[in-house]
Amino acid sequence: MSYIQFFDTTLRDGEQTPGVNFNQKEKVQIALQLEKWGVDVIEAGFPISSTGDFESVREIANTLQKATVCGLARCVEADIDCAYEALKGAVSPQVHIFLATSPVHLEYKLKMSQEEVLQSIAHHVTYARSKFEKVQFSPEDATRTELDFLTKAVQTAIDAGATIINIPDTVGYTNPTEFGALFRHLRETIPEFDEVIFSTHCHDDLGMSVANALAAIENGARRVEGTINGIGERAGNTSLEEVAVALHIRHDYYQSETGITLNETKRTSDLVSRLSGMAVPKNKAVIGANAYAHESGIHQDGVLKNPDTYEIITPALVGVATNSLPLGKLSGKHAFITRIETMGYQLSEEDAKAAFKRFKQLADLKKQVTEEDLHAIILGQVAEEGTKYELTHLQLQYISGGIQGAIVSIAGEQEDTILEDAATGSGSIEAIYNTIDRILKTDVELTDYRIQAITKGQDAQAEVHATVKVENGEFFHGIGIDFDVLNASAKAYLQASGKAKDQSREEVTK
Ligand code: KIV
Ligand code: ZN
Repeated sequence: MSYIQFFDTTLRDGEQTPGVNFNQKEKVQIALQLEKWGVDVIEAGFPISSTGDFESVREIANTLQKATVCGLARCVEADIDCAYEALKGAVSPQVHIFLATSPVHLEYKLKMSQEEVLQSIAHHVTYARSKFEKVQFSPEDATRTELDFLTKAVQTAIDAGATIINIPDTVGYTNPTEFGALFRHLRETIPEFDEVIFSTHCHDDLGMSVANALAAIENGARRVEGTINGIGERAGNTSLEEVAVALHIRHDYYQSETGITLNETKRTSDLVSRLSGMAVPKNKAVIGANAYAHESGIHQDGVLKNPDTYEIITPALVGVATNSLPLGKLSGKHAFITRIETMGYQLSEEDAKAAFKRFKQLADLKKQVTEEDLHAIILGQVAEEGTKYELTHLQLQYISGGIQGAIVSIAGEQEDTILEDAATGSGSIEAIYNTIDRILKTDVELTDYRIQAITKGQDAQAEVHATVKVENGEFFHGIGIDFDVLNASAKAYLQASGKAKDQSREEVTK
């Protein structure tokens, strides 16, 4: 029976998804939930990449009590120093250094010879070991590297003191047969294979990342890297929730244990989906809304007679079923806080007070406030704290010939500064968004706009996701939650554009 460590990189590789940009509070909430879900290691960011990333990694390192906190670094001493500074407060710090080994990366990206790559690995792993007990080395693009050179690179890293070797399928090129054989080869040729931890990191370009990760596990990997909901660069990473449930349901085959608390899976997935703005497809394995729905009459009949006929995973296993009682307007602060805590949130006194105020406002408008509504209250609050702008007034006016006018007021960065303007558009949303552009003086492109109801029923709140793109190609995401669709739309766009404005200001002052 082997123990498989879970290494979550939602906050690093997951954040490389176009349009995904978590603020620091969002990152801390996700990290806390990942720790609750039971991951062993959290890759909190790439500290040298920006001040924001450095601060988030430091905050997560100082907050988590159990999980190892990891920071990414290139084979550059300054990267390793920076990761050390960000991680030194962690209960269990780890650095993850990487260098590409494939011919195409060496020739075109690094312009280095194989000998130079080996020297750099030896030097930087040794350097990292002088600062960290736990050093992970990744030969980037491993699956397109000649096997002999890959083996040499791995051996060099182990000889220099690497304690974890991660084998990335950087471009999602491999398949389960090949990837399994690659791990078997390493197990047979690296004498220290069982002394260090071998890890797998797959991308989903050909839709095989979960299968590839499982093939690696079958052939000796003792750590699996991935993200929640499979978010990440291009087609994304291995969906960790799928691996966790596969190892559990097919325990007979994989004979492996994990530290994952499976009934926290849905909650973890929902949190990441909301804060990233990446909707989970309905037919997604394990956590999709249809994963437990039976449409055909024959299937329904079978499930009613015995769920085992067509259901290998029960909704309760992954925390889908919730029969907790809804709260209402007579519920007091104590009941509210207790429920929020059982849902996994740890709020400061000030944040809890603000959330209770929002709950009361909602309870006045909605008879029953469900857990879904409570998640929305907290997540809306966390997301809004990432920007300095608050929508204080919105008024719409039909002009003529299909033209709409909007008047928008925004509370600015300094308290008691109200910014106000008006503009027109060919529809209400365009009029609102043009007005916000005028107020913030931003030039952004709206690349995604999505609206969904938080709960069923006509009194449901609207949840709007807006993503904007700025001149340098960066994307920013905002969430707006409100009873009124137009207010929710305005809040989402204001948040996304506010983040874009703050970012461009940070760049100017750097
Ligand atoms: O996909 C990849 O190669 C990576 C490395 C940094 C491990 O994310
Ligand atoms: Zn990756």
